[in-house]
Amino acid sequence: MLDENPYGLGFGTYSLTGEDGIDALVTAIEAGYRHLDTARLYGNEEEVGEAIERADVDRDELFIATKIAHFEEPEKTPEYVRTGVRESLSRLGIETIDLLYHHWPRGRDDIESVLPVFNELVEANQVERIGVSNYTPADLELADDLLETSLYAVQAEMHPLLPQRDLREAVRGRDAYFVAYSPIAQGEVFDVPEISDVAENHDVNEAVVSLAWLLSKDGVVPIPRSKTPAHIRGNLNALETDLDDEDIEQIDGIERRLRCEDPSWMEWE
Ligand SMILES: NC(=O)c1ccc[n+]([C@@H]2O[C@H](COP(=O)([O-])OP(=O)(O)OC[C@H]3O[C@@H](n4cnc5c(N)ncnc54)[C@H](OP(=O)(O)O)[C@@H]3O)[C@@H](O)[C@H]2O)c1
Repeated sequence: MLDENPYGLGFGTYSLTGEDGIDALVTAIEAGYRHLDTARLYGNEEEVGEAIERADVDRDELFIATKIAHFEEPEKTPEYVRTGVRESLSRLGIETIDLLYHHWPRGRDDIESVLPVFNELVEANQVERIGVSNYTPADLELADDLLETSLYAVQAEMHPLLPQRDLREAVRGRDAYFVAYSPIAQGEVFDVPEISDVAENHDVNEAVVSLAWLLSKDGVVPIPRSKTPAHIRGNLNALETDLDDEDIEQIDGIERRLRCEDPSWMEWE
């Protein structure tokens, strides 16, 4: 369903709360975004639900992804997951979540307690597809053992300063989508000369180049976030920006590395 999205670009919603958040969400839907990415932890599922109500687009045309069980949340019991998903459905005002992610595990115990409940939720038609987020390749192997349906998407940070080659290979090997979060490195891509150079040649900005670079990679779906209407609409230009092989090589060749989301205890592979 993600590739049925006419725009191939999702919309991130972290920090989009209150009336301003709803306005940004309605602007995004009406500009053409169809895939909305929220999470229980973002505290804005109600705003997403309200935007779905207000926007001039049918719910069936939208693809709603949410997440549960972040490392900061104390409890990750099966009952917590069951109740949490019922609450998400109610706040979003929908009958089925198109894609539910395990948001961020903290160790194997978390994965072993959360994912079996996801199987039940699919069986009960509360969830259509399963995704995982912030998993390492070893975590993905554990997910293979625990899940009864195939993994639809793996969400992780990815942008020109964090190309995620190994994780991407692991995700493609499972025939899943790689949903790229922080796709413009929370604004940092504006400070990278190799990206500015390509942007100038195409007469677009650095955010658009970074999104177009992500879209050039097989199975990668970027989810930029913005509350600024001009940015929300402007980022869609990535879909019409055709980078040539030389542009892509130039960005692939960037050596600087940045991980925006990096808790101290996390051991990335
Ligand atoms: N699974 C996870 O653990 C996880 C972690 C982080 C993020 N995410 C998801 O990924 C989404 C996106 O990542 P993110 O929010 O971290 O960062 P991001 O999308 O890389 O960057 C967002 C920032 O970029 C600015 N921006 C956007 N378009 C711009 C443009 N065209 N020109 C100038 N500035 C621009 C926004 O400001 P304006 O609002 O002013 O445009 C905002 O400050 C999140 O919202 C969330 O849905 C998931």
